[in-house]
Amino acid sequence: MIRPYGSDTLNPRYVADEAERRALHDEADALPSLLLSSAAAANAVMLGAGYFNPLRGYMGLSDASSVAEKLHTSDGLFWPVPVLNLTADVAGIEGASRIALRDPNVEGSPVLAIQDVESVEQASAADIDAMAEKIFRTPDPQHPGVATFKGQGNWLVAGPIQVLGYSYFESEFPGTFRTAKQIRDEIAERSWKQVVAFQTRNPMHRAHEELCKMAQESVGADGVLIHMLLGRLKAGDIPAPVRDAAIRKMVELYFPENSVMITGYGFDMLYAGPREAVLHAVFRQNAGASHLIVGRDHAGVGDYYGPFDAQAIFDEEVPADALQIEIFKADHTAFSKKLGRVVMMRDVQDHSQEDFVLLSGTRVREMLAAGEALPEEFARPEVARILMDHYQAEAATGS
Ligand code: ADX
Repeated sequence: MIRPYGSDTLNPRYVADEAERRALHDEADALPSLLLSSAAAANAVMLGAGYFNPLRGYMGLSDASSVAEKLHTSDGLFWPVPVLNLTADVAGIEGASRIALRDPNVEGSPVLAIQDVESVEQASAADIDAMAEKIFRTPDPQHPGVATFKGQGNWLVAGPIQVLGYSYFESEFPGTFRTAKQIRDEIAERSWKQVVAFQTRNPMHRAHEELCKMAQESVGADGVLIHMLLGRLKAGDIPAPVRDAAIRKMVELYFPENSVMITGYGFDMLYAGPREAVLHAVFRQNAGASHLIVGRDHAGVGDYYGPFDAQAIFDEEVPADALQIEIFKADHTAFSKKLGRVVMMRDVQDHSQEDFVLLSGTRVREMLAAGEALPEEFARPEVARILMDHYQAEAATGS
C-alpha cells in the first residue's frame, strides 16, 4: 500500500489507549482551557485521525507564514495549508505550558484534546491578510473561507496535541466517519492495491458516478473510496446526512457490489480551491489511496477559481517528489444527448454545449424545491427523490 505522507508509518495524534485517555481527561479538568474555533477543532479531529500525518499539532507564525507563502514549513516539510489554533482571547491560558482544548461543536464543550503550548503569538492584521490571500488567492471578505479564517482572532497557539475524541463525527455519522487508519486497515482487508479516492461535499449525480467509474477503469483501481466531508459547510450546501443517504442509495443501486467504500472525514470545508485540493491529496495518501480525482472546480466556490486551477497547482506548485499519490485529472463530465451516455468533454470534440445535459447547482435546487423531477440523464431518480424530500421538508418548515 502507498506510504503515509511524510513518514513510514501513520502516527495519528489520537490517544488510543483507554486508560491513558482517561488519565488525560482527569488531567485536563485541572488545566487552563481554551474554547476552540470550529476550524481549530476540525484540525484537531484531522490530526487525531491521522489525516494530517506527519504533523503533531498546530503551527506557529513562522511555519504558518511559510506554508502560506511557499507551501513548506520552516524546516522544509511540504504542506499546503497552515494548520492553526487561532483564537481571539488568550487571557485564560496566559503562561500555561499545557492546556485543555474544548470543543465548540458539542454541547457542554467537552475536552477534545490537550495541547503542549510551544508558543502564543499575536499575528498582525497584515500577517493574517497576507496568509488569507495566499491560501484563498483572494483578499475578498465575501469569500466564505476568507471570512471564516479572519473571523477566528489573531492569536496563534502553537504546539503538539494529544487528541481524546472525534467531536460529533463518530456519534452523528457512525456508519460513515472513518479515521485514516481505519481506511488503511479496510483497504488492506479488502486486499485492494490501487484505490481511487473521490472527494465530495455534494450529493453525487450521474456525472459524478461516471467520473468515479471512468477514473477506476482508467487507472486500473481495485475500488473507489468515496470520502465525503462531514464538517461545516456554507449556507445552501446540502447537509451531510442527506448527502450521505443519497450517496449510499446511488452506490447500492448503480455500482458493482464491493467496489466502493463509503466513508467520511471530520473537517470543515475551506473553499480554498487549489490549495485545498493539495491538502485533499495529502490526506488521501495518508488514508491509503493511490489516486485522487480532481475534476472541475474542485473545492471551489463562486467564481474565485478557474475551473481547472485545482489541477494546475499540482504541476505548478507541488514539487514532483513531494507526494506519492497520483492525481486523476478529470475534464468537465456530462451526459451527451448524442451518445446517450456520460462523457468527458475532452473526449467528444465534435460536441457543442447544446449536445450536453447541463444544469447549474442553482437550477437543480430550484427544481427540487419546486418538486420538479430532475432529468434522468442528470440524476438517478432514487437519488433525486432523497434530495427532493429534503428540499420540500425545508420549504415546509420555512428554513
Ligand atoms: S468539492 O468542493 O468537494 O470538490 P464537489 O462535491 O462538487 O465539490 O465535487 C467533487 C469532485 O467532483 C471534485 O473533484 C470536482 O472537481 C469533481 N466534479 C464535480 N462535478 C464535476 C463535473 N461535472 N465534471 C468534472 N468534475 C466534476
